[in-house]
Amino acid sequence: MNGVAGRGVLLTGASGGIGQCLALRLAEAGATVYAVGRRADALHALAARARPGAIRPVVADLATADGIDAVRRAVAAAPIPVSLLILGAADSRFGLFEHSSVVDVQAQVATNLVAPMLLVRALLPCLVRLPEAGVVGIGSTFGSLGYPGFAAYSASKFGLRGFLEALAREHADTPLRVQYLSPRATRTALNSVAVDAMNAELGVAVDDADLVAASLLEAIESGTRRRQLGWPERLFARLNGALPELVDRALAKQLPIVRRFARAAAPVVSDTALESRP
Ligand SMILES: NC(=O)c1ccc[n+]([C@@H]2O[C@H](COP(=O)([O-])OP(=O)(O)OC[C@H]3O[C@@H](n4cnc5c(N)ncnc54)[C@H](OP(=O)(O)O)[C@@H]3O)[C@@H](O)[C@H]2O)c1
Repeated sequence: MNGVAGRGVLLTGASGGIGQCLALRLAEAGATVYAVGRRADALHALAARARPGAIRPVVADLATADGIDAVRRAVAAAPIPVSLLILGAADSRFGLFEHSSVVDVQAQVATNLVAPMLLVRALLPCLVRLPEAGVVGIGSTFGSLGYPGFAAYSASKFGLRGFLEALAREHADTPLRVQYLSPRATRTALNSVAVDAMNAELGVAVDDADLVAASLLEAIESGTRRRQLGWPERLFARLNGALPELVDRALAKQLPIVRRFARAAAPVVSDTALESRP
């Protein structure tokens, strides 16, 4: 049974564009959502839009050990036991890799890969004791094909996909269900103005966040192991696995446009300032 009604769901990235829509849909479907984010105001405003008690804010910075521990404690104290963990928090910083700072690289890998791994590690002992439990990773098309301008983000999402694949195989003979579900480009604050403009020039389809949330909930309830949303992204994700040279050629044609937007978006700062940029 994969339905969410009556279950406790821990959702990271709940204050984000897709996360807010997914939290509301989970609540509407009868789940109690423990909604994780850094912005308390956004989480409380979200909770006020659902039936009382359906969305419960958990304020935590997942890029820190304290944040991971705060989530672990919230789950341990949860009145409705958490049996579904949805890993949706992410950080994305568009730009040429040569312009990225140490902080840019560390923040994306910490939020998109290390935090999900540490959260699963912290919560797995509770999850495996339950008769039905699930872990859902929100991936990306860029977790299946590395995209120029998104090197660290792509690396983190490839890592998340590999981690969850191994975890699923480790639990192939247990009731724990592990899913990896990938949206394509979606209209949210994750994408900067430069990324939105680049997508428009490249003719990249950009989905509505609530429609993505609806597809994610449907995929969660269907129990599907992996799903890439959108066409032709589904084709390209598969093609990149089997025949990456073909995708190399397609993306080489897009490279001048990506470079132009990435260079325009790059901050003009010294090496020292780059290291300390937040
Ligand atoms: N938008 C797209 O084009 C797109 C495409 C493919 C995949 N996705 C994936 O879909 C998921 C949701 O993305 P979105 O577009 O909804 O992003 P978003 O609107 O930018 O929201 C990002 C969420 O992650 C949270 N977050 C970021 N860093 C965090 C940290 N250190 N600790 C705790 N929470 C943190 C944010 O919380 P606070 O703001 O409260 O800190 C926010 O709730 C992500 O996994 C993303 O990779 C998005």
